[in-house]
Amino acid sequence: MSYTELEHGYQGLRSASRPIFYVGDLSSVQSTLVGPVASSIYRSSKRAELSDGCSNDDGCMGGSDLEGEGKQVLVGICAMAKKSQSKPMKEILTRLEEFEYIKIVVFPEEVILKESVEDWPVVDCLISFHSKGFPLDKAINYANLKNPFIINNLPMQYDIQDRRRVYAILESEGIEIPRYAVLDRDSSDPKHHELVESEDHVEVNGVTFNKPFVEKPVSAEDHNIYIYYPTSAGGGSQRLFRKIGSRSSVYSPESRVRKTGSYIYEDFMPTDGTDVKVYTVGPDYAHAEARKSPALDGKVERDSEGKEIRYPVILSNAEKLISRKVCLAFKQTVCGFDLLRANGQSFVCDVNGFSFVKNSNKYYDDCAKILGNMILRELAPTLHIPWSVPFQLDDPPIVPTTFGKMMELRCVVAVIRHGDRTPKQKMKVEVRHPKFFEIFAKYDGYKHGHIKLKRPKQLQEILDTARSLLAEIQHRAAGPELEEKQGKLEQLKSVLEM
Ligand SMILES: Nc1ncnc2c1ncn2[C@@H]1O[C@H](COP(=O)(O)OP(=O)(O)OP(=O)(O)O)[C@@H](O)[C@H]1O
Ligand SMILES: [Mg+2]
Repeated sequence: MSYTELEHGYQGLRSASRPIFYVGDLSSVQSTLVGPVASSIYRSSKRAELSDGCSNDDGCMGGSDLEGEGKQVLVGICAMAKKSQSKPMKEILTRLEEFEYIKIVVFPEEVILKESVEDWPVVDCLISFHSKGFPLDKAINYANLKNPFIINNLPMQYDIQDRRRVYAILESEGIEIPRYAVLDRDSSDPKHHELVESEDHVEVNGVTFNKPFVEKPVSAEDHNIYIYYPTSAGGGSQRLFRKIGSRSSVYSPESRVRKTGSYIYEDFMPTDGTDVKVYTVGPDYAHAEARKSPALDGKVERDSEGKEIRYPVILSNAEKLISRKVCLAFKQTVCGFDLLRANGQSFVCDVNGFSFVKNSNKYYDDCAKILGNMILRELAPTLHIPWSVPFQLDDPPIVPTTFGKMMELRCVVAVIRHGDRTPKQKMKVEVRHPKFFEIFAKYDGYKHGHIKLKRPKQLQEILDTARSLLAEIQHRAAGPELEEKQGKLEQLKSVLEM
């Protein structure tokens, strides 16, 4: 089943009427719940109201017409317009607005870039992340000034922009990464940029990398990654870049490594030709999907709608643990990273920080639900909002319904056996002929009251008897009683002849 089919199936399920109380079962083929997650209480018809009364100018995403004007948690979205106006962001914010006690405030890009942080909107919770052109230093100053509840740690977003820091953090967490060395041409210490190059390998600060190996700019913002092929495979290199239309890489006959700039050199990990993209929402939830590696031939696989083809992935337990560790180590609730499945293990080769899954309603629902509950659990008590955590880890699975509370069916365990049976290899025949009694006597039948004949020689005797009796019948030498048994004797004969 393709990813698109899965998503269509999910949309079909969603189109069924939504209950007021929505108890989350967040596990699915492509989304993995690493641990228990609280369910949420949505207002039943809020989404329909959202399209009204929302003006983009004030940064409101809707829901400004709340009945009773009760207290609300203000959740600020502080990111470049390209990100805060993106489709996945809008999908998730619309769903977050369905929480009665949450109001979204999108910081306009103009304000972020031009206004001083003292004049930025005041919020209780901040979802803020770096992308090209974003003033991360200002966002950090704002967070220090106003001290909101932070969803994605801001200073660590500097680390995420530096592949050396990313690898150092992953290593310190005991997460598997490709074997690597840093060639740091910015360092004044010559020991940090020693390069010996020969046809099929490089030595970086004394560490040898045989081709194929990967060369990555130290800046994670620079996507010009080169993979060098061994001469046995024809040499040359594959040059990766940020997707341009239908291409993500191109072959180059150049076999020598770059001589300006600082790079990470690492072992090329042999995968099945796909990258596993993982998207966390907190340490206990991860969505994973696979895509064709840009390292392959550089041709991007697209479906009829032009969307990049994705394959469903089920994370192993070890990978769920990696996902948890990455989310916690980088303090990024919403965090995307790449896994390479190679040699029976999973290696993290890239951590991208804040990143939403695209075109998955299941993910949009899950993500909004987890973030909403996380925010309210943290802030409702301090803001005196009468919100109760709808589901605790050890709660019995009781769900409210329109006619009271009832136990929720969590699973059905069945022990099932197949219905086909081996036919019994048995036949019954009554014998009266003296020849059978001779055999009975011969094997001490009278002494024991029964005989068991198993050996080939014994069975041959029974067969010989059956044959001679049948011959008698043929020659009309047998009495009528034996003739009656002809059918049985033939059966006995053919069974023993098999
Ligand atoms: N060590 C490796 N072994 C094999 N393939 C690799 C390795 N490192 C990277 N790749 C391939 O190169 C691709 C790009 O690498 P990486 O994800 O580190 O770069 P990036 O430009 O930062 O990516 P992104 O677009 O996700 O930000 C990976 O998706 C993977 O297919
Ligand atoms: Mg990547």
